[in-house]
Amino acid sequence: MVQVLIEVADNTRANAHVPYSGYHVGAALLTEEGEVFGGCNVENASYGISICAERTAYVKAISEGARDFVAIAVVTDDGGAPCGACRQFMCEFGLDTVVILADKNGKYSMTSVRKLLPQAFDASSLSKK
Ligand code: THU
Repeated sequence: MVQVLIEVADNTRANAHVPYSGYHVGAALLTEEGEVFGGCNVENASYGISICAERTAYVKAISEGARDFVAIAVVTDDGGAPCGACRQFMCEFGLDTVVILADKNGKYSMTSVRKLLPQAFDASSLSKK
């Protein structure tokens, strides 16, 4: 399954709209039901409204009714890790989601949202009085 996710992420990466950074990112998010949602980064001339590949994949999945996520593969040229905003966004939907970080040659490492975001601020933080 790891290889499938990397392949979907890499294929989706080809659709990245990156006229400003030139940094193509692709993601593939696997649900408990076995569905896979791809996402790429989509930049904008108003830089700040650009969206990362990971969040594209989550938003696509969530808007189709998915809620439980097993793993996400992220492919970049250099195997780069998700930005802080994406770590926070992913944490909302599960700290145990496996994160596969792959480079353009298919070399990969595996981690998790929990490891990428220690001492996460999530829904449980708001219930502590
Ligand atoms: N980018 C992602 O898609 N995911 C990340 O987690 C890191 C950054 C994108 C945003 C922007 O389009 C480009 O990479 C350079 O920052």
